Amino acid sequence: MPKKPLLLLGLMSGTSADAIEVALATVSANSPPKLINHTTRPLPKALRAEILRIAEGAPASAAQISQLNFRLGHAFAEAALAALRQFRVSPKRVALIGSHGQTIFHQGRPVPFLGHPTASTLQIGEPAIIAARTGITTIADFRPADIAVGGQGAPLVPFADYLLYRHPKLGRVSLNLGGIANITVIPANAKPSQVLAFDTGPANMLIDALVSHFTHGRQHFDKNARLARKGRSIPALLNALLRDPYLRQPSPKSTGREYYGAAYLKKLLSLAPKYRAHPNDLLRSVTLFTALSVVDALHRFVLPKTKIHQLIVSGGGAHNPLIMAQLAAALAPIEVLPSSQLGIPEDAKEAYAFALLAYETFHHRPSNLPKATGASRPAILGKISYAPPR
Ligand SMILES: Nc1ncnc2c1ncn2[C@@H]1O[C@H](COP(=O)(O)OP(=O)(O)O)[C@@H](O)[C@H]1O
Ligand SMILES: [Mg+2]
Repeated sequence: MPKKPLLLLGLMSGTSADAIEVALATVSANSPPKLINHTTRPLPKALRAEILRIAEGAPASAAQISQLNFRLGHAFAEAALAALRQFRVSPKRVALIGSHGQTIFHQGRPVPFLGHPTASTLQIGEPAIIAARTGITTIADFRPADIAVGGQGAPLVPFADYLLYRHPKLGRVSLNLGGIANITVIPANAKPSQVLAFDTGPANMLIDALVSHFTHGRQHFDKNARLARKGRSIPALLNALLRDPYLRQPSPKSTGREYYGAAYLKKLLSLAPKYRAHPNDLLRSVTLFTALSVVDALHRFVLPKTKIHQLIVSGGGAHNPLIMAQLAAALAPIEVLPSSQLGIPEDAKEAYAFALLAYETFHHRPSNLPKATGASRPAILGKISYAPPR
C-alpha cells in the first residue's frame, strides 16, 4: 500500500511573541520526515503588545480574549498563506496544518482554584479561522490533552526531537532557546521512555525585557549581544541569580512568563544598584545567567547519569554569540552545535515539530512523552478543525 508523501505546514509563535514561524515539511509512511522550507512573519505590533499585556496577567475581559483569539487566527492564516506564496506551493497541495497557537497562560502544576487543585494552559489563535481561510485542515491546541492525563502540557517538542536527533552512538541534548529554555535529553540509542525533557529556566525572555526597559521600547532584543558585550559580568550578581529556586526544582517542570515575566524584571532591576551594575553590566550578567542556567540543569540532572556528546541548539537564542560561546566554554568537551548544522534551521525547529505532532494526531497516535510532561499515560494531542468542503 504505497503512499505519496504528504505536505504539512507548522505554525509557531512562542512566548517571546516576536513572530510567527512557518515550516513546510513532508512526511511519508516509510521514510524520515523532511523539512522543505521555512520563513518568519513578524507579528503586527498592536497584536504583539496586546498578547504581552494579557500574558503578563493584566486585567482582560472575556470580550478581549475572545476577540484576540480570532484576530490571532487571522494572523496565523495570513502567515500560512504568505509563506505558501513565498514557497510557491498551492494551499491545495498541503494536507494538514499544525498550529501551536499563542500561549497567554500556562499553569502546568495544579494550584488551588475555587477550592480544587487545577492546572491549565491556554493557547489561542482560532484554528477554525485558519482552516477556513487556508482551506487546509488545521490541528491546534495540543497541550490540554496532556494536562487532562495529569501532565504539565509541556514540553511537547521532545517527540520531534526524538524523531529527528536520536543517534545510535551519540548522546544528544536538544536545547531550544526561545523566551524560555528547554532541553530534551536523548541518550545514545534511546527508547522513547528514556527521553528526559524539561524547561531549564529563562532563555531570551529576561534579556528582551531588560533591552525593552532600557531602550524605552525602541529595541526588543539584544541583536548579536551588541549591548551585553559593552558591559562586564559581575560575578556576585551572577551567583545571586544562580540561586534561583526554579533551577533546583526537580523535573517534570515547565515555566513561562508567569514566573520570568514582569515580576522577575522588577527583581533584576532592584538588584542592580546593590551590585553597582550599569544597564549593560546587568544585561551581560543576565545573558551569562541564561547560558549558565542551562549548564546548571545539565550538571544537576543530566550529566551524572547520561553520557552526552552533543548539545544541539535552536531558537532565536542560538543567534546570540555570547550565549553560544558561554555554553561551549562551560560544557567542553561536549560539542555545542547550532541545529542548522544538522539540517534544521534554528528558527524552523519548533514550527517543524508542530507539523509533525499534527501528523501524529491526524493518525490517532499519541505524541506526548509521559516522562517529559509528567502525564500518567500517552495522549493524542490537539483538536481538529476541518477545512470547509471544497
Ligand atoms: N541575532 C540575534 N541576536 C541575539 N538574540 C537574538 C537574535 N535573533 C533572535 N534573538 C532572540 O531570539 C528571540 C526569539 O526567539 P524565538 O525562538 O522566536 O522565541 P519564541 O519561541 O519564544 O518566540 C528574540 O526575542 C531575541 O531575544
Ligand atoms: Mg518567536
